[in-house]
Amino acid sequence: MEIQQGYSRVAKTLHWLIALLIFSEYFIGITIDNTGWKWLHFQVGSIILILVLCRIIWRITHVYPVMEPRLSRINKMMAHAGHHTLYLLMFLIPVSGLVLAFTKGVPLDLLGIHFEPLMKPLNYHTRHTIKEVHEYMANGIFYLALLHALAAIGHQFIHKIPILSRMLPKSWSKFIE
Ligand code: HEM
Ligand code: HEM
Repeated sequence: MEIQQGYSRVAKTLHWLIALLIFSEYFIGITIDNTGWKWLHFQVGSIILILVLCRIIWRITHVYPVMEPRLSRINKMMAHAGHHTLYLLMFLIPVSGLVLAFTKGVPLDLLGIHFEPLMKPLNYHTRHTIKEVHEYMANGIFYLALLHALAAIGHQFIHKIPILSRMLPKSWSKFIE
């Protein structure tokens, strides 16, 4: 079982790896029309989905640290709601991306696995709606993650409540506290 006061090494590694990949994937996504990096977008997105599934399983099967007790009740509630929403988006964005890719009715290569078209292409309007939902959710996670990062940094450096240090390697804590 896991520690109570800080995040475990596995939780920290998954957190930062997934965060880095999501921000990169977002920029690959918004520039896709100019770069044509659709193949790269699909591969990185598939890796994100696998890591997120591992993270959810790890989250459910391990005890995580309790919320920092010095946070106000409203801050705890907001952090709780924010973390759950981030989890939901981390899962739904790659899933909606996969739905988009598989409903185009063309062969697909994902992480070295070749998929022949599983179905006839879905009609334009349905795919367009799924694409819009994918895009809205991607924008949503981008801005929510920025807010989440600002909250962690603000608590650490302005309110002097050590939130950011909980998610950083232990050896870094002495530099920021
Ligand atoms: C967390 C993971 C992901 C993020 C943050 C993300 C983000 C984005 C963004 C920002 C766009 C641009 C939307 C636009 O402006 O038109 C996009 C488009 C798209 N994404 Fe993703 N995406 C993710 C995962 C995936 C996955 C796993 C797939 C499929 C394997 C996928 C398939 C697509 C497709 C088909 C488009 C439309 C491309 C086009 O034709 O313009 N995405 N994504
Ligand atoms: C797409 C990017 C990100 C996502 C999806 C994300 C998601 C999450 C989630 C779900 C948690 C809850 C704990 C867990 O289950 O592991 C968390 C905790 C945390 N995140 Fe992020 N995060 C992102 C980016 C960032 C960034 C950029 C920072 C800071 C600069 C940050 C700082 C933290 C901190 C300090 C915690 C611990 C909060 C606490 O429980 O006290 N995150 N993050």
